[in-house]
Amino acid sequence: MPNFAALPGFRDFYPDDLAVRTHIMRTWRSVARRYGFEEYDGPPLEPLDLYTEKSGPEIVQQLYNFTDKGDREVSLRPEMTPTLARMVGARAGGLRKPVKWFSIPQLFRYERQQRGRLREHFQLNLDIVGEPGVGADAELLAAAIDVLRAFGLTADDFVARVSDRRLLRALLLHAQVPEERLTLVYNIVDKLERETRDAITARLSGEAGLGDTVVEEVLAIFRHRDFDAVREAYGGIAGLGEEIARLGEYFSALDAMGLGAFVRFDLSVVRGLAYYTGAVFELFDARGELRAIAGGGRYDNLLKQVSDADLPALGFGMGDVVLRELLADRGLLPRAERRLDAYLVAITPEERPEMLGLAHQLRDAGWAVDYGLRHLGVGKQFKNAAALNARRTVVLGPDEIADGVAVIRDMESGEERRVPLADVASA
Ligand code: HAM
Repeated sequence: MPNFAALPGFRDFYPDDLAVRTHIMRTWRSVARRYGFEEYDGPPLEPLDLYTEKSGPEIVQQLYNFTDKGDREVSLRPEMTPTLARMVGARAGGLRKPVKWFSIPQLFRYERQQRGRLREHFQLNLDIVGEPGVGADAELLAAAIDVLRAFGLTADDFVARVSDRRLLRALLLHAQVPEERLTLVYNIVDKLERETRDAITARLSGEAGLGDTVVEEVLAIFRHRDFDAVREAYGGIAGLGEEIARLGEYFSALDAMGLGAFVRFDLSVVRGLAYYTGAVFELFDARGELRAIAGGGRYDNLLKQVSDADLPALGFGMGDVVLRELLADRGLLPRAERRLDAYLVAITPEERPEMLGLAHQLRDAGWAVDYGLRHLGVGKQFKNAAALNARRTVVLGPDEIADGVAVIRDMESGEERRVPLADVASA
């Protein structure tokens, strides 16, 4: 037998799996709408250079790209942000600002297989374009937190780790990191949580070529574990003070919304993508067992790189893979829903024409109805009704047909009623 299993990292969604996915997407949509975001979509296949320039090395290594039959270099979308930037940019003049859009694309990345990372995933994207103020940053993080709260998760289950690229940049420059090595240093400190201090130190001096005192200064920055400590240490320094004040405003807004308990300042959150320019955040499970649930931040320069519009922007992406693991772990996945309003039972093959007529009439009225596709014993039909989780059975036998009625039986209470055939749909 040839092996026709799904490709590594790609999922088959059997009905139970799809029910979970539907639950996740429904919750995503409802919170996005609550926050006033409008849904959009773009093409799953894009020109390759939309990503090679903009997304940064981590994603570019993972592209599903190829040359199409018209000799175009193309790629499956690994993320939504460049598409969003292109789309908003193309119509920027005609759109009311701030633009608040959301989307739920399926994305493709040729990732190393590991827990929580597949080669396709669905990702909720919420983005705001056209608002430079910190109020938008706070609103965006609040939306991300409220999405998780809508699943029943609490501050005991997850945390938002927040940093700011501009502040980090200013701090690193203050520590005498040369401007041209900033990106290198970002990529190294991004791994602070996952690598040992010694490994980080070695990379800072080896890969980034920083002298011992600069390495010491850089590591000192990350020893400040909370925002007040950073404010205390650097708040008075020119070029740093205003960055710290702005971030302070961001935290105050989240406190005012009652979401302070979900938020933690953590400068080591850098984000792998190249285009972020301001506040960035990642959501993690509180026990630190899983990969990131969501990530995002401000990217004020991306629109002008992919369009003629120069607009500030910010957004986040939340994948379905880690979220599903977390919900399963906390017992927050929905239980199987009742699927059928009625299962129709014919006592003998003679009632099948009436049963077919009734099934059609009930379905026209919006009921979810099923019946045996060939005649089976009555016991077997009732078993099937139970197995399919039917709310009720509607039984037709020779006596019922003679009287022009059906027997409606509530499967939970066992209660039975004789109802005229014409009235079943409204019963
Ligand atoms: P990202 O951090 O690359 O950001 O992805 C966001 C989230 O998508 C991750 O936290 C994770 O939940 C999920 N995710 C990413 N890759 C995978 C994978 N291979 N398997 C399963 N889940 C995955 C972005 O993509 C940005 N474009 C988000 C954004 C929107 N920034 C601004 N607007």
